[in-house]
Order: sequence, then C-alpha cells, then structure tokens
Amino acid sequence: MNHAPQPTQANGKSGQHPLRPDVESFYHLAHGGFEGKACQGTACFAARHLNPPRWAEAMENNPRVYCLGECFAAPAKGQTKPRPPVKVCSREGIVLGRIAKGGARTLAAYQAQGGYAALAKALAQPPEAILTAVDKSNLRGRGGAGFPTGRKWRSVASQPAGLKYVVANADEGDSGAYIDRYLMEDDPHSLIEGMILAAYAVGAAKGYIYVRAEYPLADTVLRTALADAQAAGWLGARVGGTAFSFELEVYSGHGSYVCGEETSLLRSIEGNRPEVMARPPYPTERGLFGRPTLLNNVETLVNIPWIVTHGAEAYAAIGFSKSRGTKVLSLNSLFNRPGLYEVEFGVTVRHIVEELGGGLRKGGKLKGVIIGGPIIGMIPPHLLDTPLGFEELAAIGAGVGHGGVVAFDEHTSIPDLVEHVFSFGAYESCGKCTPCRSGSGRIEEIFTHALAGDATKADLQECRDLVTALKLASLCGHGTGLARFAESILRYYPTEIEPCFK
Ligand SMILES: Cc1cc2nc3c(=O)[nH]c(=O)nc-3n(C[C@H](O)[C@H](O)[C@H](O)COP(=O)(O)O)c2cc1C
Ligand code: SF4
Repeated sequence: MNHAPQPTQANGKSGQHPLRPDVESFYHLAHGGFEGKACQGTACFAARHLNPPRWAEAMENNPRVYCLGECFAAPAKGQTKPRPPVKVCSREGIVLGRIAKGGARTLAAYQAQGGYAALAKALAQPPEAILTAVDKSNLRGRGGAGFPTGRKWRSVASQPAGLKYVVANADEGDSGAYIDRYLMEDDPHSLIEGMILAAYAVGAAKGYIYVRAEYPLADTVLRTALADAQAAGWLGARVGGTAFSFELEVYSGHGSYVCGEETSLLRSIEGNRPEVMARPPYPTERGLFGRPTLLNNVETLVNIPWIVTHGAEAYAAIGFSKSRGTKVLSLNSLFNRPGLYEVEFGVTVRHIVEELGGGLRKGGKLKGVIIGGPIIGMIPPHLLDTPLGFEELAAIGAGVGHGGVVAFDEHTSIPDLVEHVFSFGAYESCGKCTPCRSGSGRIEEIFTHALAGDATKADLQECRDLVTALKLASLCGHGTGLARFAESILRYYPTEIEPCFK
C-alpha cells in the first residue's frame, strides 16, 4: 500500500502543524478570529435592518466574517448555543429524522435509534451491493452540483487497487446554509457511518472530514464521535470484525469560502496553497495526494445509511422528476418560521416561502429569494410556482445549490445586493482567473458608484461584458456562479438596475 504524506494542520488542534507561509497568506482565518464576531454573510445582509448596530459592527471586521451558520437568527454574532427549529415535512425523515426527535450526539443515542445497523448489514454483503444500491437510489450530490452519487462512487471503485481516500466536504460556506452544521453537531455518527459505508464500497482505507473554521462545536463533537466509533470497533483496523480497515480524522479548515470547491479543499488538506485546479483529471482519478478520492457533501453522505437500510427502490420512490429523495432547506431570519426543514423534491418555492416559512416577518413584501446562494440565480416573486428540482430551478437561471434559503424584503435594494454579492465574490476569489480576481471587484466598484448616483450607461455595459467574461473564462463555480447571479438580476430586476446608470 502507498503511504502518502500526512497533512499539515494549524490552529493548535492535536496533531496539527504550522502552515507554510505561502499557504498561510491565502487564508483569512488562519489564526481563528471569528469567535464572537458579527457576520456579514448574505443572510445577515438581508436582515441588517433588524439590528443596524450589529450590521455596522460586522462591516468593520477585518478579516471579514462570512456566515457562521446561524442565519435563522441573523444578523448573527458567533455563538454556539442557539439551535434552529427542525421539522421533517417529507414522508420519511431520512436526513433530519433523529435531529427532529432531539438529536443523537452520543454513540449510545445513535445506536439506540438503529445507528450502525446499516454498516453491519453492508459488511455482510460485497461492496458491489452497496455501489448498486447507491446507483439505483438516484441520489444526487447535495453540495450544489447535483452530480449522480452512484456514478462518482463507481468511478473511484473502478480505479486500480491501492490507497484511496474518502473526504467529506463540511466547508458549508454558502451564506444562508446551516444544514451540515447541525447534522454534524447533533447527529455526528450519521455522517461517520455514511463515510464508512462509502469507504467500504469504493475500497478506501483513509478518510478526512474537512470542517470549516467557523464551526468549532461541530469540529469538537466530531472528534469525540470519531474516538467513540473507533473504541466501538466501527473505525480503525478490522471494522466490525471484518477484514476491512478504515481510518478517519477531522481536518480543521482555516476560513476560506473557495476551499469548499473540491480541488481547493483537497489542496488545503495536503497543506498546499488551495488554489482551484483544472479538471481533468478529476479527484476520482487523481485526488488527495494524487490518489483516487471520493469527495461528497455531508448531507449526501448522511443519506447513505437510510438507503442501505431501506433499499434503493424505497429511496427512489420519494421525490420528483430527476431529483429523488429529500432535501434539507435552511430558512433565514426574515421568515416568520425560520429553521431546518426536510422536504421532498417537487414542492414549489411558493410552498417553501408561504407554507413552511409562513411568509415574511412583520408582513414584509417578498422581493426575491435565493436558494443555495449567494453565487446562484435569484428567484423573483412571479416564479414562485417553480418546483424544487435540479433541472427545474436551473431552467429559470436559479438552482438547488446546497439548500440555504434566503428571502429578501423591501428593505433590500437590488443594486445594494449586487454590490454585497460582488464584494463577497472578490474577497473570496482564489485569484487564479482574471475575470474573477479583478472583474468581480470591478463590478463591486461600479455598483458602489451607481449607488452614489455616479455611474453611466457605459458602466452598466462594462458590467455586462465582465459578467460574460466571468461566465466564459472562470475555472470553477465561484466565477460562473457570480455570473449566474448577475444574469438573473439583469433579467428579472431591470427596473431597479437601469435607473441607477445615467
Ligand atoms: C466556490 C465553491 C464552493 C463550494 N462550497 C461547497 C461547500 O461548502 N460544501 C459542499 O459540499 N460543496 C461545495 N462546493 C461543491 C464541491 O466542489 C463539490 O461539488 C461537492 O462537495 C461534491 O459533493 P456532492 O457530490 O456530494 O455534492 C463548492 C463549489 C464551489 C465552486
Ligand atoms: S473562478 Fe475564481 S475562485 Fe474559481 S478558480 Fe477562478 S479565480 Fe479561483
């Protein structure tokens, strides 16, 4: 077996080493610095009128703090105590079932609710049976792109034998999304069991959970859960008494949105400067330390034990069109009923806004809603009857993304929102592509002038050209997502944009 170099970590965690200076300079939070700070993520931006002093404080932060996973209480200030309301609104509580009943933070609580039974069942079957189940379930990745999970798993499984990795993407940087945070904090073993099942299916011996710096409680809870799973024989040598071995550890991130992108995340674990890499080769072929790597989002992996326990057919029977199963949505504080909701694909955006969220607080008038943003298209009120589905939302220039739902009311002017999103985009760019590195900052600057009444029609045309460049010449979804956001704004909100340019 190949022995890859061990990753270098920072932040004073056990077994962590200092970052190289050229790597350290990449990260905003290489040395922490978000604790107790006010947040300036998009959900907090949408709610800034609810607490103007806190928003003013957030805007002063350097380094900036973007999304603490407390969007239900936005504008937020880093705390670990508040919990969001949690509701299962699907036939089956596949992902949120345990959390809706109070959670399963300990191994004993997880096992008392049937935890690790799926792993025991799987270990009695060949890996191929698990690959087939995941394929047939039609599960698609919940990290944003909706890529078929079974196809990704098969690609890793089919690579030549040798060291392979499984990595959980727990970077959850989309402002408005706080799904993975509470899955990890309140049901950590569901992720661990999903990862062990994935490793068994694809033949991986080693895994990492990449937890973002802004989620310190999730980091701690997972480290304890891993030790407990190891002591119970579910991790390490001879998992469940079989010949299969799997080592799993937490890697603590350093505060970079773009590290949620898969190639950037893998470079980060390696201890390299986490710039996005061109594909192919895909991580499934040449990933972490050059080895075949399966990388999935936390929510994707949490679906796996249910699929193994209940069967692919039962899973595929839930959902709608080409989007099967359930999706967890996290609603921001502008709703009357913010919180985590598990729904079946196919519910309309109107249902999410009006029935689940109960409309906007204080009778607010909906200006638009972003699902899975901020680097994704905005949904205007006249398209609320669009169903929640990967293809259906893409057809209107929006998307499912990771499922963070941020509503905007009449307190948000659209040019203000554009300036906010491009400021975020420029700040978090990895700098590899010119349109993203320089163009997003230029669009922010033009909108700052436009808001001051100092921009012309030629400036608007420059923005349009920059958006085209972002769309065509970006190496990753950060740049193309910014373009998608801008296109939706130019298409659906011309009456708010054009008067700002004389
Ligand atoms: C800028 C950027 C940020 C991303 N952030 C995340 C993230 O925080 N969590 C995540 O799971 N996927 C994120 N993704 C998507 C990942 O690159 C990858 O597609 C995903 O983790 C794969 O898992 P899945 O197949 O289970 O969805 C991001 C992509 C981009 C371009
Ligand atoms: S689009 Fe932006 S974040 Fe993505 S690789 Fe290019 S510069 Fe980096």
